[in-house]
This record gives sequence, C-alpha cells and structure tokens, in this order.
Amino acid sequence: MKKTLDQKKSEDFAQKMLSVVNHAGLALMTSLGHRSGLFDAMADMPPATSEEIAERTGLNERYVREWLAAMVTGEIVEFDSAARTYQLPAEHAAWVTRKASPNNLAVSTQFVAVLGGVEEHVLAAFRHGRGVPYAAYNRFHEVMAEESAQSVVAGLHDHIVPLIPGMETRLARGIDVLDVGCGSGRAMMHLAEAYPKSRFVGYDFSEEATAGAKREIERRGLKNVCFSQRDLATMSDVEAFDLITAFDAIHDQAKPDTVLRNVRRALRPGGIFLMQDISGSGHLHADCNHPVGPFLYTISCMHCMSVSLAGGGPGLGAMWGKELALKMLGEAGFNNVRVESLEHDPMNFWYVADV
Ligand SMILES: C[S@@+](CC[C@H](N)C(=O)[O-])C[C@H]1O[C@@H](n2cnc3c(N)ncnc32)[C@H](O)[C@@H]1O
Repeated sequence: MKKTLDQKKSEDFAQKMLSVVNHAGLALMTSLGHRSGLFDAMADMPPATSEEIAERTGLNERYVREWLAAMVTGEIVEFDSAARTYQLPAEHAAWVTRKASPNNLAVSTQFVAVLGGVEEHVLAAFRHGRGVPYAAYNRFHEVMAEESAQSVVAGLHDHIVPLIPGMETRLARGIDVLDVGCGSGRAMMHLAEAYPKSRFVGYDFSEEATAGAKREIERRGLKNVCFSQRDLATMSDVEAFDLITAFDAIHDQAKPDTVLRNVRRALRPGGIFLMQDISGSGHLHADCNHPVGPFLYTISCMHCMSVSLAGGGPGLGAMWGKELALKMLGEAGFNNVRVESLEHDPMNFWYVADV
C-alpha cells in the first residue's frame, strides 16, 4: 500500500527529531556540569570569562569553554559576547546545583551516560532476549543513591513517614525496620539517626552497594543500623520486622512474586509494607500523558526490564503500573493497600500495605 505523505506532519516531526538530538547532547553536558562542579561554581560567580571559571573550578580552560558553548547554545548559560562572559542565571541554578537539592534535575541526567554505557549489551539483548545483568552497569549505585537522596531521603520526615498514621510515634518508641533492595542504604541511615531507639536493617544483593553502606555507617558511627548482602528471593525472615520499605526495588526483581511473599512473611502482625514504585498507569495510552514517560520507558528498557530478564525473571519493566502492582500485592497476602502520590516525587506511587 502506498502511503500518502502529510508534508506538514513530516516537517513537524523533523523539528521534533532535531530537538531530540539537541536535548540528548544537552543531557550529557548537564551531567558533566553536575559531576565537574561547574554548575555549583557558576551559581556563586558573577558573569565570568571561561578562564575565570576554569581557574575557580581547577578545570582545563579548553574543556570548560567547549562545555560553556554547549550550555550557551542550549540556553542553560547566558553569554555576553562583548564582554566574553558567561553567567548561570539564578532561575536556572535553582534546578541544576547541589544547593538546589532536592530539586537538582542535573542528577537525573547522569542516567543517560550510565545507560549509554550498556548500549552494546542492550542491543545484543534485543536479539537474544536474555537481558543484561546488574554487574554490567557502571556507576549505577552511585547515581541511584544521588537520585534517591532527592526523591526519598529528603522527603522521609515531612512526606514519607507521615503516609503511615502513627508511624512517627512507633519509630520514636523503637521498632524493627527492614529496607529491601536498599542500595547504598542512605534512607535507613537517615532514619537511624532520627530514631535512635529503633533498629534498622538493609538487604541488597550488590556487594558494591552494601560494602559502601557499611563503610558509611562506620564513618557516621551509627550503631542501630546494619546492612547485609542478600538475595531477597531467598530471604527467610519470619515475623521479624514491624515496617518493611522498598524504594524503587520491586519492579526490577527476577522473582517479584517470591520477593513480595517473603516480605509479607517477614512482617509481624500489625506490620506495614511501604513500597515506592514507578508511577506508570499500566496502560500505554495513559502513560502518553506522563510528564516523564519517555525517560521512564527508556530506563525501563535499558535497565529495569533488562536486569529482571537477565535473572530469568518476567521483566515487568518500570512502568508495570498500579493495577498489576495491586494485584501482585494482593496475591502476596497484603491487605488494605492504599496508593498515595507525593508532590515532590511525580515519578513514583507510594503503596502502604497492611499484613
Ligand atoms: C533501583 S535500585 C534502588 C536502590 C535503593 N532502594 C534506592 O532507592 O536508592 C534497586 C536495588 O535493588 C537491588 N536488588 C535487585 N534485585 C535484588 C535481589 N533479588 N536481592 C537483593 N537486592 C536486589 C539492586 O542491587 C539495587 O540496589
């Protein structure tokens, strides 16, 4: 069948693709601006030349100038061509600097390079279908820790603990808490500092993540938190915890159903499971309105779905959606599951489940 071409539609799409190419470049440069400290330095500087910015940051001027050119053409940094000075406006610094955390969107741009690093593996997986193991990803745990420092740790006190009525009081009195798929463990450390009478544990199968978490609790001198390298699919705790949390750690499991049952069994009567997971609707047409839909499906394809498939799992994908999550929580034996949204974290739903 010969298709007729709508010229206007075609030209509009070409514009969109150009924008994709430009924004892809900007995402990489934004990640570099974050990691190099350039955004942080420029936020505190008056309009400055590339030499002055390089001197302040201790970086090579030629690289700084080329990065600045990408930032200026991408309308992130402003340029005075007469004075040859560059400035990061305060309105932009409010979204790309460490001082702006938890609103630092430059943190998320680091995932582009992390995922780009496994492109060959993912491409091969398109053919053989067997997924890509966690071990293939460089800097995943480091970037994830930075991401959840903003979406989880920063909101624990004001937004997340209050999702569970009475939990603040129970934590203050002293309870047992487990975080499954704890990664670098910053959430448990934060709660351990805030609630010294409670005891906190983190499980993760990554040696890199748990070793880093153990070093950090030594450094902070925390006695009421510990971390253990463990596969959640084989955890055997029975009625050992009052609260179990999972921050963005269920959808990428190789055995999500087994893990949910293990979590259920590990809770004491009256215990609560708090699950943060990606805010997919479970329906592609509805996800078209998701403010970060393309990015989340990209992370899913290049990481979440792939790591699950690599472990012989179902590859639920990050956008598995509320309906399937609720069905699986019910099948694992949870009751009265509430689903909440938090304004500071549009990428996730918050499921609060009773045993
Ligand atoms: C997306 S990361 C989230 C990490 C952390 N909760 C956070 O918010 O920063 C998922 C974590 O689950 C861990 N994980 C995945 N499957 C696991 C399993 N079967 N057993 C233990 N940990 C697992 C990974 O190593 C990773 O640290």
